[in-house]
Amino acid sequence: MSEPVRTPDVAAGTPPVIQIKGLWTQFDDLVVHRDLHLEVSAGEVVSLVGGSGSGKTTLMRQMLGLETPTRGSVRIFGIPLKGSSARTLKKIRRRWGVLFQHGALYSALSVFDNIALALRELRVFDEGFIRDLVMLKLDMVGIERHHARKMPADLSGGMVKRIALARALVLEPELVFLDEPTAGLDPDRSESFVRLIEALHSQLGFTVVMVTHDLDTLVSLSDKVAVLAEQRVLVYGPLETVVRKDHPFIHNFFLGNRGLRALSAAPDPLFGPALTGARR
Ligand SMILES: Nc1ncnc2c1ncn2[C@@H]1O[C@H](COP(=O)(O)OP(=O)(O)O)[C@@H](O)[C@H]1O
Ligand SMILES: [Mg+2]
Repeated sequence: MSEPVRTPDVAAGTPPVIQIKGLWTQFDDLVVHRDLHLEVSAGEVVSLVGGSGSGKTTLMRQMLGLETPTRGSVRIFGIPLKGSSARTLKKIRRRWGVLFQHGALYSALSVFDNIALALRELRVFDEGFIRDLVMLKLDMVGIERHHARKMPADLSGGMVKRIALARALVLEPELVFLDEPTAGLDPDRSESFVRLIEALHSQLGFTVVMVTHDLDTLVSLSDKVAVLAEQRVLVYGPLETVVRKDHPFIHNFFLGNRGLRALSAAPDPLFGPALTGARR
């Protein structure tokens, strides 16, 4: 993303938004993560990539406190998830929003009620205020207000994604998790959804952690890319640094035919030299 809004972090003494140290994940004999480290600063857009089974989903679930690592620590906003009280965890959860790939909306609730849910749970706003806020969120994601009455089953895939994004952003989170945000969208809808995320990120300045297989999405949005391979974060940095790393996964993912097309379409002239360097 070209000019992400940066809120003061390290310089101002604020901890990183996400700090993962010495994380191990083991399921019986299978070691998924081995001494994994990752740090995300405020305002950054970080993409997690890696082969199937490399542990992306598990890592995201650990950041959301839905799974506990075998060993190591996950701190969000400087607060360790492990050992925190239910009350603290509840407070942390209000500071992030999640766009899940599957089950993005509750099918039994209308568009309006899906977006209103988190507001109602706070028990501090009256229905009139909630109504105004929900309508503003629909405007924000480019969905006409009359769709508020509809049920998720009556919406196109692109609309579901936008409404799910409105729901994720309803409490004005500082941190947003996106799980395969453009999966299942055709190229046009995917591109316009990426542009929406980009615009909202630069307006609102939240931090983004995203899992994606889609190279166009990754190239358009990421400030940094973390490659999960060999049970750890193999390389972490801006895309032009990551593509220089000599590793079979990186080679196939970024420099395969599909990869070359997406990278050469990127507006940033830096990708030219990076690609030449990586191919040499
Ligand atoms: N609850 C679990 N029990 C046993 N194995 C698991 C469990 N969750 C994930 N795994 C295994 O851990 C590995 C990483 O899974 P996952 O995080 O879903 O990878 P990715 O999202 O990168 O494809 C896979 O081999 C998967 O089968
Ligand atoms: Mg996964």
